[in-house]
Amino acid sequence: MFPYNAHNRRLLETALGNEPADLVIRDGVLMDVYTGRVVPHRSVAVAERWIAYVGPDADYAIGEQTRVIEAGGRVIAPGFIDPHTHIANFWNIADFLKYAIPGGTTTYITEVEGFCFALGAEGFRAFLDQVRDRPVKIFCLVPPMVSASPAAAARFIAVEEIRELLRDEQVIGLGESYWQSAILTPDDRILHLIQETVKAGKTVEGHAAGAADRRLAAYAAAGATSCHEAVSPEDVLNRLEMGYCVMLREGHIRKDLESIRPLIGEIDLGRCALSTDGADTEFLLSEGYFTDVVQKAVDMGLKPIEAIRMATLNPAAHFSLDHLIGGIAPGRFADILILPAPETMRPDIVISEGRVIAEGGKTLVSLPRIPHPDQLLKTVHVPLLSPEELSVPLSACSKPGAIRTMDIQANGLVTREGSAQLSSSTGTVLADPGNDLLKIVFIERVSGAGERFVGFVRGWGQKQGAVASSLIWDASGIVAIGADDLDLVQAINRVIELQGGTVLALGGEIAIDIPFPIAGYGSDKKIEDLTSEVSGFQKTVGDLGSTLRSAHLTLETMASAAIPFIRITEKGYFRFRENDYVGI
Ligand SMILES: [Fe+2]
Repeated sequence: MFPYNAHNRRLLETALGNEPADLVIRDGVLMDVYTGRVVPHRSVAVAERWIAYVGPDADYAIGEQTRVIEAGGRVIAPGFIDPHTHIANFWNIADFLKYAIPGGTTTYITEVEGFCFALGAEGFRAFLDQVRDRPVKIFCLVPPMVSASPAAAARFIAVEEIRELLRDEQVIGLGESYWQSAILTPDDRILHLIQETVKAGKTVEGHAAGAADRRLAAYAAAGATSCHEAVSPEDVLNRLEMGYCVMLREGHIRKDLESIRPLIGEIDLGRCALSTDGADTEFLLSEGYFTDVVQKAVDMGLKPIEAIRMATLNPAAHFSLDHLIGGIAPGRFADILILPAPETMRPDIVISEGRVIAEGGKTLVSLPRIPHPDQLLKTVHVPLLSPEELSVPLSACSKPGAIRTMDIQANGLVTREGSAQLSSSTGTVLADPGNDLLKIVFIERVSGAGERFVGFVRGWGQKQGAVASSLIWDASGIVAIGADDLDLVQAINRVIELQGGTVLALGGEIAIDIPFPIAGYGSDKKIEDLTSEVSGFQKTVGDLGSTLRSAHLTLETMASAAIPFIRITEKGYFRFRENDYVGI
């Protein structure tokens, strides 16, 4: 992929006609993202990995060895860029690419938070080793690692470390820092990371969910330059007006693209981009990763050229990469899609750096699995538990006769503080699955001591059994939810034995285990197998009484600092508004 030495003698000689091209695409309809026109009868000449020429006739560059692709009136568009994603979790990256590449995404800008919660800067470097020299570009953002769990501090990436990581050309900025942590705390840790990133000339990504007016201004003033959390037309406008690049998210977590509908034709969309904000296996397999997001924008009424700009030039410009990617122009990498028609975003042919890497929905390049270092496969440092260790004495209650609960709201992501009457008279507080009251446990996995907190949750819905997972957002630990202590312990201990995974225990037995041995976040299974295991998990949790749309996603987010209002940590519940830790 690198280095960036596009502007070389070979390239200009090809443009001049003094040397033949390696590849010529003849007679297509060009999506000219620079002028916003759709131009018929355009041809492109490619030398090595770069575009040498675009114009009415590239036949002059055809030599004996030149590969010629007849576009035959089909569309020539730049390769798609997903500017905000999370592709380090869940799967082996090689398998992910096999499914994502045919959809035409030739650049991925990804967060790498999971590997870092497991292993700090070393985890980040291990992921970089996974994505170097792939047939598409994968740029990484250093995660600021905002966490509600104090134990995560042991894994934070320090200023000296980020300085060194940012020297890597594949690292293009600082990942999403939740706005509260950057501007509402007296602690300057995030600000220092931002300053170091700006000094390195790289980009600072934002996450301004729920922020408006002064707070939105303060976050931009602190250095954040993008937000993928606009959920209404007003959010889009407020962010654009304050100079943010708005990345409209349409992925498995949320679908917010509709928020732009009333603005189509009304405002300049040059500072808007499309993004997935990550994908789960189902989204990857059924929706073609990013392709359907671009397609949906077209189907919503955006002109194809505008939707394509939001998936190419606009994000490239945001990251100051538009001299290299994001358009069909000389000197840019030859990342080119041949689309069957202007309104159809699923490509016939995907070209990355001058090479045809997919055709007719099939990946044509080899995607080797790269072994992970040993340290990344042993990251769950927790002693095995016994059921007694999860018992909660009545004396733990902050009010007599009642307990504080985390109540999962209808969307399965937001939680609110609630309270429940005690039903126990045994001296301990028990789960009450008949009334949808389950235990929720957080155990940190970095210190070796397994510091933990046992709270109570409503809205999960399972009537029996327990689930546990190490694949959790924004924390280094295990989250478990269960109807009884024996199953809770079975599930948690299995996650520890697997050194990462998602487990469901029922009646004292392990009913489902999905290993995530890579940092506690990634599977080495084939994506088809992983998909059926995750859907099996969803089905079983549903059979046991849960009505959550995506139980695994809900479990992943229970400790996350990204979603309000009350989360679980090893120090108790963390409350967003009060900014404190409390018990039951
Ligand atoms: Fe994100």
